[in-house]
Amino acid sequence: MTPFLTGIRRKLSDHGQEHLLRFWGDLDDAQRSALRADIARIDFPLMDRLIEKWIRDEPAEEAFGSIQPVPLIPKVGAGTADSREALIAGEEALRAGRVGLFLVAGGQGTRLGFPGPKGSYPIGPVSKRSLFAFHAEKIRNLQARYGCTLPWYIMVSDTNEQATRAFFADNGFFGLSEADIVFLQQRMVPCVATDGRFMLAEPGRLAMNPNGHGGCIPAMVESGVIDDARKRGVDTLCYFQVDNWAVKVADPYFIGHHVMRNAEMSSKNHRKSEPREAVGVHCLCDGEYRVVEYTELDLYPQLLETDEDGCLRHAAGNPAIHILSTDFVERVFNSFDQFPWHRAFKKIPYIDETGRAVKPEEPNGYKFETFIFDALRFIKHDPVAFEIGRRGEYTPIKQFEGANSVVAAWDSMNAYWAEWLEAAGVRVERDAEGKVAVPIEISPAFALTKEEFIEKVRGREWPQNGPIAIGPDGGWIVPAAR
Ligand code: UTP
Repeated sequence: MTPFLTGIRRKLSDHGQEHLLRFWGDLDDAQRSALRADIARIDFPLMDRLIEKWIRDEPAEEAFGSIQPVPLIPKVGAGTADSREALIAGEEALRAGRVGLFLVAGGQGTRLGFPGPKGSYPIGPVSKRSLFAFHAEKIRNLQARYGCTLPWYIMVSDTNEQATRAFFADNGFFGLSEADIVFLQQRMVPCVATDGRFMLAEPGRLAMNPNGHGGCIPAMVESGVIDDARKRGVDTLCYFQVDNWAVKVADPYFIGHHVMRNAEMSSKNHRKSEPREAVGVHCLCDGEYRVVEYTELDLYPQLLETDEDGCLRHAAGNPAIHILSTDFVERVFNSFDQFPWHRAFKKIPYIDETGRAVKPEEPNGYKFETFIFDALRFIKHDPVAFEIGRRGEYTPIKQFEGANSVVAAWDSMNAYWAEWLEAAGVRVERDAEGKVAVPIEISPAFALTKEEFIEKVRGREWPQNGPIAIGPDGGWIVPAAR
């Protein structure tokens, strides 16, 4: 046995994980070096802590003396002086080049089950353009409008980095400057079986998962994103998730509220449609800002209560759209060992002790993850909690059909763009229930807002029936074969 192998074996056995070398003797050189690299990435003290807390002990549930609703800044459209002032401040920050974009795209997308990075999903109902393409088209529009460069930081993980980079290269970086697109990797953590032991995905590979979207905090600092942002004069990072097709990637109103208050972290919130809607609830728990996950609502029944008019007292649903200041990210990073972790019980394919590959039918192990909204616990001042409507802002794509799905996102964007068309005087075919009956698609490079759309389509001739789809340069899109 080489001294190196002796060292690894000792380390693994100190942590009760020696079984990871079970197949060592059968591995070739490449497999051995891959396994060594996986093991070298494990943060053993962290994993020991998580296994102790979440697997050996049943974790104590948190109890709060008081949970208060978070005060919301009212929706745009309320036309208040505050909202006009915010627009001016946000636009100024954009023009001054203070704003960067941070996209988290490192997840595994298991529920959608699409064979590729989620961002490459062909979401365009007519064109089949990808989620990445739509986000890029928004950026092109904003850059032209504000005469600025919006550096685009994209967090990927081991599971999809190569495929994501290749997708951008194959698509010519969607017309953006390659120098302004920066990919960064988040860390991976081992999946853990119910007996506290790490799992093998192959004889020479650990089963690992990305460390959650909260992993963007260490990733931003360790990969040099924060330094890069500072060099560019960027101090305001707009955070968004790849599966939200509708997201306004750099909303000047939201940015304005953030910069006017010199905030550390700001969040958009939409009013929950029903008490058990599958979104986290943004609230103030014993003086600390939190988002309580919808899966934990039963622990805090007050979050389900309604007032005498039947309205939810805690209505602030959190769609994972935030702004983070670069200084704040660095501060949270410096205390990242106190950042909370969450566990999820999942079906994790593995190799059993005989070397057989098993695809479990039932959950069999834990994935540990961090969540970006837990950074709210670290803020020193009140956060900006900004109210939005769902339509045109939030279409999370978690699966193909049902709630939060591709089909629901198509319906939502169809309804959103139909409003633009009707405001421009175009007749839109609707069915007996009033639902839009034709696919509509409008490239965000062509128009990002209803006002811009109306202005640009003045005097245009419209098709009498069939899909209405306008591409980035304003031309009609010919439907792509599905
Ligand atoms: P989800 O938590 O919905 O996960 O991620 P997912 O990977 O898209 O899908 P499932 O749960 O496996 O079905 C919300 C957003 O956070 C990103 C995802 O890429 C998505 O944009 N994310 C999630 C990361 O970047 N890293 C992670 O470790 C987890």
